[in-house]
Amino acid sequence: MGLGSSYVTGNKIMSNSSLLERRKAAVAGGVANATPLFIEKAKNAEVWDADGKRYLDFAQGIAVNNTGHAHPKVQAAAKAQIDNFSHTAFQVSMYEPYIELAEKINAIVPIRDAQSVFFSTGAEAVENAVKIARTATGRPGVITFRGAFHGRSALTSTMTGKIAPYRAGAGLGAAAVYHAPFPIPHHGITVADAVAGLHTIFKTDIEPCDVAAIVIEPVQGEGGFYQAPKEFMQELRAICDAHGILMVCDEVQSGFARTGRMFATDYADIEPDLMTIAKAMGSGYPISGVVGKRSILEKVNPGGLGGTYGGNPVACAASLATLEVIEEEKLVERSAQLGAYMLDRLNKIKDRDDVVPIGDVRGVGMMVAFELVKERGGHTPDPDIVPKVVAAALKRGLIILSCGYFANTVRLLAPLTVPTDQLDEALDILEAALQEAAAA
Ligand SMILES: Cc1ncc(COP(=O)(O)O)c(C=O)c1O
Repeated sequence: MGLGSSYVTGNKIMSNSSLLERRKAAVAGGVANATPLFIEKAKNAEVWDADGKRYLDFAQGIAVNNTGHAHPKVQAAAKAQIDNFSHTAFQVSMYEPYIELAEKINAIVPIRDAQSVFFSTGAEAVENAVKIARTATGRPGVITFRGAFHGRSALTSTMTGKIAPYRAGAGLGAAAVYHAPFPIPHHGITVADAVAGLHTIFKTDIEPCDVAAIVIEPVQGEGGFYQAPKEFMQELRAICDAHGILMVCDEVQSGFARTGRMFATDYADIEPDLMTIAKAMGSGYPISGVVGKRSILEKVNPGGLGGTYGGNPVACAASLATLEVIEEEKLVERSAQLGAYMLDRLNKIKDRDDVVPIGDVRGVGMMVAFELVKERGGHTPDPDIVPKVVAAALKRGLIILSCGYFANTVRLLAPLTVPTDQLDEALDILEAALQEAAAA
């Protein structure tokens, strides 16, 4: 294979293909790669790979860089913290950025009298939310939803409502985790069906008095960008209240302005007991957290929460800068506006008869997705066409990801800071990719 625009540094040849060979030899295959690219440089919506090719990045590290790659304000805050100190372990010696971040997060979540605790990854936040809920209620049970994604750790991959690829072959899952149906009316599950499914679990699997928490993504992320309808969220709140169950909103993917609100839970007009946050919180610096009612968090004994790196000072500094950027650049409003613009354009593409059949087009702010289906006007999933569209887009310089319980969804995760001409460029590429896949 040719080396393309490869270059030599020291005695190493740097190109996508040469790096891929080294990756295959040195790195576990259990980590799947959505693209064969090795990134050398990244700026806001753009990245450049080891072959020198430019791409528009509409994956943004899986919904992490809502402020784009290398936002100058976030980078400056992180650098300043690095130059000062980068780690003490909050449990050993504390530092102000952790406190300031907790104060700011407590003030913007839809939870009254909130407290926060920080970790490093989304899965860790979800694990801890369950631990807190079990401790606070003295109950073992956890109910999550089919199609949900909560992580890859032993507990969170059990909570994830899809076996392959996340848990396939990994043996028995964690105990006392049950999956309820998630309402997706165009796939035949109404809100009433989903509520009935939950009551069935109470009858056949676990009594409500043994359930510690119901954990829900207000917009399913990996599951396909399906928003839980407001009436469903309110019904869950009522069921939780009736049985002393804690309601946990997993905002790991939907949080921090991605959906046109600071948190997707804001659409539901409910107050969760706990929320998990991560990803866009740190704009790429690993940080996550559990935010919840003080009366619940204080049930955990000192020493029960934490972790060596939880709330690392560099990540706290980056998170504080991220919150400032969201406010200064009005990214909540921009997410709502650009999301509506994208939906309009995608619906126009859907109407063309020279593209692959597109089913449901949906979005909550800039959490935008569409389904690829077998026949125009229908909803029968066509998972086989999805990799072809994704590959055709990549060839033309656009990075996009697939997702979905039915594996037929393409999701678009543009940075909320994307320049509008680059947004148009990306949608043009997508349109051409959908045409190319139809012609093949
Ligand atoms: C809703 C949700 N929860 C939890 C996680 C797990 O986060 P992490 O990959 O940081 O462990 C993810 C990751 O995609 C997610 O989307």
